[in-house]
Amino acid sequence: MSDLLLSQLQQGKPVKVEKNGKTICVARVGDQVFAVDDTCSHSDASLSEGDVTDFKIECWLHGAEFDLRTGEALTPPAVAPLHTYGVHVDGDSVTVEI
Ligand code: FES
Repeated sequence: MSDLLLSQLQQGKPVKVEKNGKTICVARVGDQVFAVDDTCSHSDASLSEGDVTDFKIECWLHGAEFDLRTGEALTPPAVAPLHTYGVHVDGDSVTVEI
């Protein structure tokens, strides 16, 4: 069963998905879809409310940026990486692998 539809995922507008007890931020970049922890590794902010530029997502609270592909923290104040999740895209159906 898919979690989301690709056609409903807009570039630059990440969404929050709850699955198996996890809160996950799903972001579309072109036709690729990435999934990372929704909670910033710095403090308690929801990354799905942040901005996506290229492959980066920026936390709205203190401005830390993360690489959506690897979860790596790119700019302070965050230092710890985000957990990343596999995403399976099949036609219009997007499934977060967790
Ligand atoms: S909570 Fe995200 S940068 Fe501070």
